[in-house]
Amino acid sequence: MIKLKMILTSLFLVFGGNQNVVQINPSALQCSLLAVPSSHNENNDTTKTFTFDGVYDQTSTTEQIYTDFGYPLVEGVIEGYNATVFAYGQTGSGKSFTMQGVTSPSNQTGILPRAFEHLFDSIAAAEGMKYLVFASYLEIYNEEIRDLLSPDYKRKLELKENSDRGVYVAHLSQHAVNSVGDCQRLMENGWKNRAVGATLMNADSSRSHSLFSISVEMMETFKEANGEQQSIRRGKLNLVDLAGSERQSKTGATGDRLKEATKINLSLSALGNVISALVDGKSKHIPYRDSKLTRLLQDSLGGNTKTLMIACISPADDNYDETLSTLRYANRAKNIQNKPRINQDPKDAMLREYQKEIERLSQMVEQQKSFDAHNIKPVEIDLEQEKVLLQIEYEEKIRQLQREVEKEQETNAKATSEMENLRRAYEADLQKINNSKKAEAN
Ligand SMILES: *[C@@H]1O[C@H](CO)[C@@H](O)[C@H](O)[C@H]1NC(C)=O
Ligand SMILES: *[C@@H]1O[C@H](CO)[C@@H](O)[C@H](O)[C@H]1NC(C)=O
Ligand SMILES: *[C@@H]1O[C@H](CO)[C@@H](O)[C@H](O)[C@H]1NC(C)=O
Ligand SMILES: *[C@@H]1O[C@H](CO)[C@@H](O)[C@H](O)[C@H]1NC(C)=O
Ligand SMILES: *[C@@H]1O[C@H](CO)[C@@H](O)[C@H](O)[C@H]1NC(C)=O
Repeated sequence: MIKLKMILTSLFLVFGGNQNVVQINPSALQCSLLAVPSSHNENNDTTKTFTFDGVYDQTSTTEQIYTDFGYPLVEGVIEGYNATVFAYGQTGSGKSFTMQGVTSPSNQTGILPRAFEHLFDSIAAAEGMKYLVFASYLEIYNEEIRDLLSPDYKRKLELKENSDRGVYVAHLSQHAVNSVGDCQRLMENGWKNRAVGATLMNADSSRSHSLFSISVEMMETFKEANGEQQSIRRGKLNLVDLAGSERQSKTGATGDRLKEATKINLSLSALGNVISALVDGKSKHIPYRDSKLTRLLQDSLGGNTKTLMIACISPADDNYDETLSTLRYANRAKNIQNKPRINQDPKDAMLREYQKEIERLSQMVEQQKSFDAHNIKPVEIDLEQEKVLLQIEYEEKIRQLQREVEKEQETNAKATSEMENLRRAYEADLQKINNSKKAEAN
């Protein structure tokens, strides 16, 4: 059991004549909300102090946050752990700034791009390992799940559950990624789709939860007395930008906005209820099923995941109530205990599927080789015809494999290059048949 990591960030300056009511004390890991008597603040007579695993203010950078808390998490993913980063807070408090960041200055690029870079640097440096990396990007809006990387944005996706995969989103597109650039493009496309989709549906994109996931499968081959053995591990990184936690009374919402606010309140209070149930330790029943968000991220709360929660606050006095509510939320959630473990040999590993196909193709080539070696061919066998048949069979298998690969939208440079090697081996064999044919002719 390890405790969830909870950090607090107050990254923006106060402006517009507001008063700063937040004090960050990095050495004590404390955040204080100062007493500010004013008619719209509840319980405003005392300074309230909270302690977290890390606290960051306007002088901090996302680089520091990543070094302190993002780095160890992503290292875990490369070892085969699940990891989740949640950003929680009211709209405008820096959630997206922390997750996506800005491109300049470079010490303020977000956790997502930093994680991409970290991941592919580690993959490039690893030896004797095969990797298959996929990314997906979804949003939950009004309790409906949509694929941010699918051309059919409006399609609503369903949550499914089975014993091999746990809870998953059916038909969510998975995209093979081989570089930081690939990930960056997906992130940007998804981000654009989110805005376009929101406009289409007359919605406000800050009112949805978004989840960018990267799954990293890694295969290690080692020699044993009885031959080569393979072990597959799979790490998964979930990056969650939660909808603004502000209360609807403040936004003065009506109509669609009110419906929206109610749904956001539903999922965030479901998250709160899950947190309470986990923390008080008395309840046997954890209400994960009360919202799509908590069901999908069930593992991240009390389960098989290393979790980092980033509570984002605004230091201005007119946000006092929201800030206090975020601090209380965070203060409760920091006590959640998780049980992360390395995901060894997942049953649905894509790498294993690739491996099977490659073995099948290798066997075909081997068969052909032994056929060539053992058949000192009687004159009546038509070499040319046999060659054509072999080629048809081989090409059909390759086509079939490619269809499967395309169907799943999952391609991988390493797997493709192995197929390419096979093709070359096969062509060399054909060449041999050609040569023997020539020899025969002579
Ligand atoms: C908060 O401040 C206002 C204005 O000074 C005061 O009227 C109110 O009683 C205070 N509330 C609490 C709970 O102290
Ligand atoms: C971040 O980068 C900017 C621009 O290079 C620099 O002015 C600033 O001091 C840096 N911040 C920290 C905390 O290093
Ligand atoms: C949000 O939901 C909680 C629990 O259902 C409810 O007590 C609260 O009044 C709701 N708040 C708003 C602003 O809708
Ligand atoms: C954690 O890993 C397991 C096994 O790979 C997977 O079934 C599960 O969905 C993952 N959980 C999260 C939150 O990614
Ligand atoms: C075998 O010979 C045929 C023509 O005789 C040629 O078209 C084909 O490319 C050759 N195959 C290889 C692998 O060299």
